[in-house]
Amino acid sequence: MSFLDRFRTIGPPHVEPLRTADAGEAAAIHAAGFARGWDLIDLQAMIADRAVRADGLFVGKVRRLVGILISRSVLDEAEILTLALAPSMRGRGWSGMLLRAHLDALAMAGTRTIFLEVEEDNAPALALYRRYGFQPMGRREAYYPRPGGKPAAALTMRRSLA
Ligand SMILES: CC(C)(COP(=O)(O)OP(=O)(O)OC[C@H]1O[C@@H](n2cnc3c(N)ncnc32)[C@H](O)[C@@H]1OP(=O)(O)O)[C@@H](O)C(=O)NCCC(=O)NCCS
Repeated sequence: MSFLDRFRTIGPPHVEPLRTADAGEAAAIHAAGFARGWDLIDLQAMIADRAVRADGLFVGKVRRLVGILISRSVLDEAEILTLALAPSMRGRGWSGMLLRAHLDALAMAGTRTIFLEVEEDNAPALALYRRYGFQPMGRREAYYPRPGGKPAAALTMRRSLA
């Protein structure tokens, strides 16, 4: 970690809504977490979409973005579209802070049920979702293509926020 990185990570993380100006950093974090990334235009459109809630996990005095969580709502249901932390920021328990803040905000806005899909062998994500009360509700065989490998199955999960 460079001196500048150390300086930029000073202070506890906090969660706040993403702004369209954050789309570039958000796209980089997404691309580091998933085989198929979203580009700047995708992220800008999502952040601006009124049906989407896009939260960021930030550290440091210069508001460095280190995690993103984006969901889309229809009536009183929402679906998590993506959750990712920058690789160097994983394994510190910070994803729980981001997820909890996001779920609280959705519940305050009237969401009663939230859904997501996750790769069946994504152990950190599954541990996180289970800890926060998500229950498996289905399985989709060979759902996620993997470059040079067998496609992975998806688990669908739900949690009540009512
Ligand atoms: C999923 C992700 C957001 C989790 O963030 P994180 O900071 O690494 O997670 P945390 O440190 O908060 O740990 C979450 C849980 O996973 C567990 N965990 C971490 N690494 C693990 C591993 N390799 N195997 C099993 N469990 C693991 C932790 O112990 C913790 O469980 P606990 O709350 O019961 O103690 C992060 O790994 C990531 O960005 N991955 C790439 C993108 C991705 O897969 N997103 C999810 C798509 S659905």
